[in-house]
Amino acid sequence: MSLLRPADAMDPLTDAPLTDAEVRRLREDFPILQTEVNGHPLSYLDSGATSQRPLAVLDAEREFATTLNAAVHRGAHTLAAEATEVFEEARATVARFVGAAEDEIVWTSNATEAINLVAYSISNASLGRGGDAAAGLRIGPGDEIVTTEMEHHANLIPWQELAARTGATLRVIPLDDHGALRLDVAAEMIGERTRLVAFTHVSNVLGVVNPVDQLVALARSAGALVLLDACQSAPHLPLDVRALDVDFAVLSGHKMLGPSGIGALYGRRALLEAMPPFLTGGSMITTVTTTEAEYLPPPQRFEAGTQRVSQAVALAAAIDYLIAVGMPRIAAHEAAFGRRLVEGLSAIEGVQVLGSGIDLPRVGLASFDVAGIHSHDVGQYLDDLGIAVRVGHHCAQPLHRRLGITSSTRASTYLYTTEAEVEAVVDGVAGAIRFFGRGA
Ligand SMILES: Cc1ncc(COP(=O)(O)O)c(C=O)c1O
Repeated sequence: MSLLRPADAMDPLTDAPLTDAEVRRLREDFPILQTEVNGHPLSYLDSGATSQRPLAVLDAEREFATTLNAAVHRGAHTLAAEATEVFEEARATVARFVGAAEDEIVWTSNATEAINLVAYSISNASLGRGGDAAAGLRIGPGDEIVTTEMEHHANLIPWQELAARTGATLRVIPLDDHGALRLDVAAEMIGERTRLVAFTHVSNVLGVVNPVDQLVALARSAGALVLLDACQSAPHLPLDVRALDVDFAVLSGHKMLGPSGIGALYGRRALLEAMPPFLTGGSMITTVTTTEAEYLPPPQRFEAGTQRVSQAVALAAAIDYLIAVGMPRIAAHEAAFGRRLVEGLSAIEGVQVLGSGIDLPRVGLASFDVAGIHSHDVGQYLDDLGIAVRVGHHCAQPLHRRLGITSSTRASTYLYTTEAEVEAVVDGVAGAIRFFGRGA
């Protein structure tokens, strides 16, 4: 099956930011970016919520459906064998993209399911499931799970529930007044009781890249496992799970040019081998009687039921597209926009950019509060100009509460974002303040 590339392949071997001309060429691959909203050309600044898909991705899904569609790992007929082959090739593509081995990648429907898979597997182990092999994963009263106050709810609530199911304690690394992780508190919190440390690589509200190495070092010295939420990093930065030395990492296809309904869990092989399943049913077993079942090795052990094959194939096409453009180039392109958003918005009187005081690398994402104007009104004003941004708490209520607000407006970029669009957001926010009047 042919995997399409961007119309004009970039030079992925440099790490220079994309030029304006390159971005304009790229945009031609994204049909939705040619559309209008409210009488204006669409300026899509909401890629942090979900990204847009290039033709290569749309075509890959359609091509699979029109030429290869069959259930994988089940049938013996030719189509089923070919479908299984491209499904497994797609897994290999994800594995290479994050620096893992093929059998260390488990397909899930999104990152949320990937995190729940780990949490439920640990609680199943804690009930004695998985036998002796899973004994090292059991947790209970006296054990601690550590997460942070800046997490997306997807990386918080599964741990609250795991603690409730097992009697373990959930501890939360607090934020300082800027919104940065209190690493001094983390150093005291992470200790011999800690069994797992789960944190986000890049905050979906602040856009800062967290110091993974420091948190991993604390977890390692405590003998704890590490789960990295890579939802907001995998689309925007080169990612290598071995170099980062994490045990688990999760990602969502729809945030990295892929379709919705597909995500992935990276798990260190030895851990996946020890883990009991989360979902059970067809396709994950060897032998079944009416009273018990034996399970396949990973990754199939964690892939119960009919799989999302066309979505997996399309995600692989998205990754091929990202690689063809060059992850270092995408990172450089977006880092410049992140800085510009922080600078430009902070210069407007009455605008507070969340986390602007944090001295860490950033991706192209900034959330802000406009004094006296509700984020929904700011978002509505920008929408009238054809600018799509996210408003609300971005599934991060504890972070907003810590910063003393209930909601914010978020602008987030991607490889197809232009400088003019970033400037339009900054000008649009200034316009919103003039329109509503500060303190309205
Ligand atoms: C940092 C982070 N983690 C997890 C998620 C959850 O992703 P999904 O809803 O695709 O499972 C998101 C989505 O916004 C996110 O930004």
